[in-house]
Amino acid sequence: MKKILITGGAGFIGSHVVRLFVNKYPDYQVYNLDKLTYAGNLENLSDVDKMPNYHFVKGDIVDASFINQLFEKEQFDGVVHLAAESHVDRSITNPMEFIFTNVVGTVNLLNAAKAIWKDNYEGKRFYHISTDEVYGALGETGSFKETTPYSPHSPYSAAKASSDHFVRAYHDTYGLPTVISNCSNNYGPNQFPEKLIPLFINNIKHNKSLPVYGKGINVRDWLYVVDHARAIDLIFHQGRTGETYNIGGNNEWRNIDLIKKLIEIMDRKLGRPAGTSLALITYVTDRAGHDLRYAIDASKLRSELGWEPSIKFDEGFEATVEWYLANEAWLNNVTSGSYQDYYKKMYGE
Ligand code: NAD
Ligand code: DAU
Repeated sequence: MKKILITGGAGFIGSHVVRLFVNKYPDYQVYNLDKLTYAGNLENLSDVDKMPNYHFVKGDIVDASFINQLFEKEQFDGVVHLAAESHVDRSITNPMEFIFTNVVGTVNLLNAAKAIWKDNYEGKRFYHISTDEVYGALGETGSFKETTPYSPHSPYSAAKASSDHFVRAYHDTYGLPTVISNCSNNYGPNQFPEKLIPLFINNIKHNKSLPVYGKGINVRDWLYVVDHARAIDLIFHQGRTGETYNIGGNNEWRNIDLIKKLIEIMDRKLGRPAGTSLALITYVTDRAGHDLRYAIDASKLRSELGWEPSIKFDEGFEATVEWYLANEAWLNNVTSGSYQDYYKKMYGE
């Protein structure tokens, strides 16, 4: 019997990780700790929330005394830490929230784990989920390796980089049994529609303009979220303590090419003549500090732990579009309320 704390489990990636752990490990007690910010949604977990090994705790990782009490009470054996402010554009307008949650929140969790484990680290693990954005931007060629020096450009990636440094420092200084992974862009069901793919699906559906930043030539390396969750499971259980693993789909797309592919699928699924929604493409002012290209070298994860993405991009992308079209109520629920204010502020309509 193990008690595992998953933070940010009501969010996009976290909900897929919770689902995997709850179903795959009936002998684990899985605790999902989430503040339920605008990005956290318990509906994401409606298929597992009645399972006897699932527990939800509402709380803020920035609140140190709450976190310490929770760890003291539950005596977790492992932590899978995903809770974060995750949207680059929001970090440009409100960096402080990112420093509180991503940096202070992470250090609070490290302190709480260190306090209950009391130097007896047998069977314990603190797993920090990070991003490829900490490495900065690539030119036309090359890819990020685990040894690539950090060079974050947005307040989001600077805060994530800082949290990674703290996790390594707690390993090196106190011997905390940590492991880190840095993943590329995820796509799939349950992603909040402020990120490129669900935002554009929703806009195409409603015949709203598609705000392409700059020239649309920035490149991202897309991975299906379920394959990220599988990698997290593998690294949590088999990754070497103190190590870092890059995770990526080996699947680079220029934004504009990805958007055109999305339009092709959406027009087909909505029964519109091919190419109708191309007219919605609107080039807008570029994101400040916009990283040109990300690409991940995931060979360490492949060779050490045998991980491979299981879902081909064509298949995963089509399934993703189908999910958003089939889950209209989910999309309407998450795009109501405060999100409307955010959208008006960002895109002025
Ligand atoms: P998300 O924004 O969808 O979810 C974040 C979750 O954290 C939400 O449920 C939110 O309520 C919760 N949360 C936020 N602040 C909190 C706080 N102070 N206390 C407790 N809970 C809080 O994010 P995501 O896209 O699922 O990303 C999850 C993690 O994976 C993040 O750490 C992110 O940096 C990392 N990551 C994301 C991607 C990606 O493409 N989305 C890629 C690589 C790494
Ligand atoms: O690389 C991993 C990162 O991927 C994660 O760490 C982040 O949490 C996640 O949000 C994501 O960051 P990006 O900034 O790459 O994702 P986003 O979906 O915001 O943007 C993808 C690309 O699309 C990026 O080049 C900016 C562009 N874009 C985005 C939006 C929202 C647009 O052109 N228009 C838009 O409206």
